[in-house]
Amino acid sequence: TSEQKSLFIIFGGTGDLAQRKLYPSLFNLYKQGYLKENFAVIGTARRPWTNERYQQIVRNSISGMEITARQANEFSSHFYYQSHNVNDTQHYETLRQLADELDKKYAINGNRVFYLAMSPQFFSTICEHVKTQGLVTDNGYNRVVIEKPFGRDVKSAVELNDSINQYFPEDDVYRIDHYLGKEMIQSIPALRFSNNIFNALWNYRYIDNIQITLSEALGVEERAGYYENAGALRDMVQNHILQTVALLTMNAPTMYTDADIRKEKISALKALRVYDQAGVKQNFVFGQYGAGNGQAAYREENQVAPDSKTETFVAGKIFVDNMSMAGVPIYVRTGKRLTTKNTQIDVVFKNAPYNIFGEDQLKRNILTFKVDPNPGMELRLNGKKVDFDQYSIQSMHLKHEHGEEIQSKMPVGYEKLLYDVLQGDTASFSHWDEVYYSWRFVDAIRQGWQKQAEGQIDLYPAGSMGPKGADDLLAADGNQWHFRP
Ligand code: BG6
Repeated sequence: TSEQKSLFIIFGGTGDLAQRKLYPSLFNLYKQGYLKENFAVIGTARRPWTNERYQQIVRNSISGMEITARQANEFSSHFYYQSHNVNDTQHYETLRQLADELDKKYAINGNRVFYLAMSPQFFSTICEHVKTQGLVTDNGYNRVVIEKPFGRDVKSAVELNDSINQYFPEDDVYRIDHYLGKEMIQSIPALRFSNNIFNALWNYRYIDNIQITLSEALGVEERAGYYENAGALRDMVQNHILQTVALLTMNAPTMYTDADIRKEKISALKALRVYDQAGVKQNFVFGQYGAGNGQAAYREENQVAPDSKTETFVAGKIFVDNMSMAGVPIYVRTGKRLTTKNTQIDVVFKNAPYNIFGEDQLKRNILTFKVDPNPGMELRLNGKKVDFDQYSIQSMHLKHEHGEEIQSKMPVGYEKLLYDVLQGDTASFSHWDEVYYSWRFVDAIRQGWQKQAEGQIDLYPAGSMGPKGADDLLAADGNQWHFRP
């Protein structure tokens, strides 16, 4: 492990994301020696806090972790607080002085990470001020990390991107999609491209369909203010699901480098079949949770309009029209208040052309990536049933679960992504072109849906797996969801 020198400036340093994800992840990097002496963190937000108070917050956020009091104190001593109004030019001057001072004090050599963990409406003004008020350095790197949502449609995303690009070039912009930091999402290229048994079969000739399920048991919780204006399509499909689709359908990168991977992901997302209104009606289902399982309906939640049309569930059939995957249905679904928290990908292969063992339909081979919880993979095969007088076929599962020891060492999503930012490795971040093509696809769906008869949203009981339409979507093709809790 080599120590990384960096100054983090976190806009939104008192926020939920910073406390729940960033500080614990930074601490893990510290524990592993990637961050040691030569780093500092400036947290900014509007409230007037002291360094002491801020450091206490940082210690609180890591208190559940394996940590000694001494480690906690040493680690948190690198944290500084600066009260800051993102629109006030003068405040950036104060920030610059503090940054320069800490750069010297910790011998950081000008490396800076600007982490925008705030409402997206402030992204461009922060980038502008950071650049024009001289917060960027000449001697080190200057990287901007941007949390989602990156726009809410093509138009707003283009505007946002243009305004950021005026001050930071694409290569210095790290758009976070925390799914890309998940171990089993990262494993997709490994399985596809390091095993010839999959490499050879990974195309329309042998893959019947792919299924992606991102189901959550939680409801909208405290985030209705954001969610009411977003909905599941923007919240989960535009980013996490389409990024997963890209990794599953891209062609092999020349080498496993960030430039090569991004190139192939962009091509895959560019090849997404964009639906017209009839296509949306036929291929997409929208739902919203009603009461069920002792839980309240979405419309009864705090800050939700009593007649809200926001979708808390989406299922759809997607096509990536490239040479190898054209015609392979990719069924996706995501929703809140479903039966269980489960993220998994099932790659369903076609049957052998003929069953020499009898009349019965053979079970299909299925490769499953189990993303959350309990990361691992499964392969469903057919084998001989142990039987004395009859030769027959039975379905078997090969299972691999990363054991507890590996799991305990597995970096949580943010830690891996922060590490990549420090390394300047952009492979696990969304390139602007990926974001653009994803919005183009999603916009068409939203528009097509809005043009349909008013109120085309299916209520589903909380605790179920969504509206029936999500099953019908597959049934129409003679398929069914492999994951059925
Ligand atoms: C976020 C969404 O991006 O992902 C949330 O905004 C969602 O609504 C979350 O709950 C799910 O992430 P994970 O890692 O728990 O599957």
